[in-house]
Amino acid sequence: MLKGKHIILGITGGIAAYKCATLTRLLIKAGAEVQVIMTPNAKQFIQPLTLSTLSGKPVISEFFTANTGQWNSHVDLGLWADALIIAPATASTIGKMAHGVADNMLVTTYLSAKAPVFVAPAMDLDMMRHPSTVRNIELLRSYGNHIIEPAEGELASHLVGKGRMEEPENIVKVLDEFFSADETMTGKRVLITAGPTVEKIDPVRYISNFSSGKMGFALAEECASRGALVTLVAGPVTLKTQNSSIERIDVTTAVEMHDAVMKSLPDNDAIILCAAVADYRVENVADKKIKREKNTAPVLHLTPNPDIARAVGQAKRADQVSVGFALETDNENVNAQSKMERKNLNFIVMNSLRDKNAGFQVDTNKVTIFTDKGEVIEGECKSKRDVAHDIVDVLQKYLSKK
Ligand code: C5P
Repeated sequence: MLKGKHIILGITGGIAAYKCATLTRLLIKAGAEVQVIMTPNAKQFIQPLTLSTLSGKPVISEFFTANTGQWNSHVDLGLWADALIIAPATASTIGKMAHGVADNMLVTTYLSAKAPVFVAPAMDLDMMRHPSTVRNIELLRSYGNHIIEPAEGELASHLVGKGRMEEPENIVKVLDEFFSADETMTGKRVLITAGPTVEKIDPVRYISNFSSGKMGFALAEECASRGALVTLVAGPVTLKTQNSSIERIDVTTAVEMHDAVMKSLPDNDAIILCAAVADYRVENVADKKIKREKNTAPVLHLTPNPDIARAVGQAKRADQVSVGFALETDNENVNAQSKMERKNLNFIVMNSLRDKNAGFQVDTNKVTIFTDKGEVIEGECKSKRDVAHDIVDVLQKYLSKK
């Protein structure tokens, strides 16, 4: 899959830079064109001559080539690239990327690049687990960058722990898998619902739930980063989208969400129903603020909202894939599977409120996926972005068969 791909390999000043000779060699062997960019410190660890010889291109490090005065355009490089790999990525470069400190050619190119970015951190274990590094890596993830987690093992300091740059063979494998996945998702249209809905009681009060929208937004970013065209129908949330190929439709109520989804449905290849839709709305919304009475309490008459997932299940074509969510508090597996059947979903993602750090508001989730083919895929507790990655992997398998 790497044949003919334009890869920028950004090397920073860590001891693992020596592995980049092998990495460059493997990428070239796989048929890629490689442009190496080094930070000034990286040149202390490995000679540019080694890398320019292996890549067949002069290594870029400065904004200007000293003897000719030729300007190295970070914008052109950013547009040329099909992927950018930063390996090894030091704590310093990760920090600069996270905060836009464009004081060298590599970070400047990173900020200009439109292509997917892969970051392979490598550093000492204490630097790796410092809250500042942890937060900066999370920030990169939130920009849609792919983190190639460092491995555990003996480090240059002779300490043993997490911080070894992933081996070049595995970095090439990650890229190869990414580009094969991309083939299926590129140009596919995915409709996603996210967040809660808000149902008015009167002009100042409402019924809603604790959904933050984080899982649905992570799914939107994941699909978009694989080249899909995403329509995100979002209930009231404070989140922002990062990828410019996500078209966002903001709604408030379940009825508005239903109407937006049903209108877009025919144009989409897949529909992911991630929103926590209020099951009921108030029948007669008061047009004035309901006053507090001394001896009586108001009675709210509720009426059912449309079940959007079910309506999608009834209306969808055989070539469309639909995915639902089930947030359960008890009898999890049975409830989730019966929802999948009732709503005619291809697969359902179940999370239990009994699991710690899963579900509403938090940044992590732990899910089990049930498919209509009887598969059960149990996941670990991980970031919602990583959970989104796993879910989209399953979705992709369905889309490749349609
Ligand atoms: O039945 P329950 O609400 O637990 O089902 C959850 C699944 O159904 C989720 O995928 C949710 O987005 C979807 N749903 C919906 N419209 C509703 C209620 C739930 O799309 N009114």
